[in-house]
Amino acid sequence: MKVLVATEKPFAKAAVDGIRKILEKENYEMALLEKESDPQKLYDAVTDADALIVRSDKVTKEVIAHAKQLKIVVRAGAGFDNLDLEACSARGIVAMNTPGQNSNAVAELSLGMMVYMARNQFTPGTGTELKGKTLGIQAYGNVGRLVANLAKSFGMNVLAFDPFVSAEKMKEEGVTPVGDLNELYKSSNYVSLHIPANEQTKKSINYKLLSQMPQGACLVNTARKEVIDEEDLAKILEERSDFKYITDIAPDSVAVLKEKFGNRIFATAKKMGAQTAEANLNAGLAAANQIVDFLKNGNERFRVNK
Ligand code: 3PG
Repeated sequence: MKVLVATEKPFAKAAVDGIRKILEKENYEMALLEKESDPQKLYDAVTDADALIVRSDKVTKEVIAHAKQLKIVVRAGAGFDNLDLEACSARGIVAMNTPGQNSNAVAELSLGMMVYMARNQFTPGTGTELKGKTLGIQAYGNVGRLVANLAKSFGMNVLAFDPFVSAEKMKEEGVTPVGDLNELYKSSNYVSLHIPANEQTKKSINYKLLSQMPQGACLVNTARKEVIDEEDLAKILEERSDFKYITDIAPDSVAVLKEKFGNRIFATAKKMGAQTAEANLNAGLAAANQIVDFLKNGNERFRVNK
């Protein structure tokens, strides 16, 4: 069996070594394609692979067409909007993610960026504290719950909106459930996004929601750039000199936004929510173990396609 690890944004060395160890124990061969953004290189590398591990790397129908022997693809991470699930299903290829494995890294970054922005990006001058402010969490999943915990230890009031999680569960965990998205935005000084990018959520963070946030509001996006309506974001930043946006996934219009709105915008140079040694190790090893468990035992837990 041959497993290709194709990560344009490389895993930490410890993660690559750990993946190799798991695979070699099974006498599987591992191939590594790192820091490569040319799709042709991926097409060539995937031709004889039985399994594929990726991060945010796009597994398009072209990739699938080149992957003549592929049986399983695992997205080492949570969001699988980079996988063409239809193309996988059409060929009987199992697609999986590794939910929860990199959540802590993303949650820490969300809070870290909030502090950074509250302190004027560490420039001189008087900033503000998170204590006593209200944080609205949009989607109370693996990351949202960890963000809630960290925020509570900062002394923030935490609200959450998630139609798929019961109000009781949120209350048990010390979080105030809100039944309506408008209410979440209206009541929160900070809103932290933890929704996936799909047909329902794309461009769903729009002017109507953002304009309801109170004075000094800050939107925190460690989810996906596609969920933001960028024109609406620019509009609110234009209209309100108090409004701030922080993200680890730069909007397409980041250069224009930065030029116009200066330090009210912060975007990391590269998507980096999950970019810690620990998250790489957790997600990478989980991906390798899931592949072994599927190829040996047919275990399809964490499958995301039909
Ligand atoms: C995820 O969906 O798991 C995160 O966004 C991490 O993505 P990355 O592997 O590209 O850093």
